[in-house]
Amino acid sequence: MAIRLGDVAPDFTAETTAGTIKFHEWLGDSWGILFSHPKDFTPVCTTELGAVAKITNEFKKRNVKVLAVSVDPLDSHKGWVNDINETQNCSVSYPIIADPDRTVANLYDMIHPNALDNMTVRSVFVIGPDKKVKLTLTYPASTGRNFDEILRVVDSLQLTAKHQVATPANWKDGEDCIIVPAVKDEEIPSKFPKGHRAVKPYLRFTPQPNK
Ligand code: BEZ
Repeated sequence: MAIRLGDVAPDFTAETTAGTIKFHEWLGDSWGILFSHPKDFTPVCTTELGAVAKITNEFKKRNVKVLAVSVDPLDSHKGWVNDINETQNCSVSYPIIADPDRTVANLYDMIHPNALDNMTVRSVFVIGPDKKVKLTLTYPASTGRNFDEILRVVDSLQLTAKHQVATPANWKDGEDCIIVPAVKDEEIPSKFPKGHRAVKPYLRFTPQPNK
């Protein structure tokens, strides 16, 4: 069954390039990103894994642990990581799950047979410290993901988990936020001491509270 926002992310134990991982235990108190790749030694996947390796520090800064999954076996992953490091000029330090029996792929409904036979599509799951799914994305094999966008949504998810704000279209960290409708006008001065502007009664902006 499809995984929905707010569901507990299914737990699993898997072999990875960094040894055996028990998913929930490995996540600990961190945020997590689980993302799938259709196949080892394929061009788009190679660029994606390299792109993630290059922004490892950005994930660390945000207390996010990154875990990739591909249905190929461990030996294949290890050879592929050498290629990724060579061709993308990076050092892949995050684990990649070997999922030849498709345990994780099936648990997360990552195989969409009408799109791609017997391989995963490009799924992304962002998981909160409460182990609940906060965001899902699904891309086809032909389209590499934008990992700056994934950092951007992590910024929004982490901000909106702590403050009564939402983030507008194309928002970036540091920009004004929207005060959620549940906050009454009279509560705004105490909750948002940096000030606010009301464009409409339902459209109220405030400077980003945690900056
Ligand atoms: C790729 O990563 O380039 C790819 C993987 C599977 C199917 C098509 C493309």
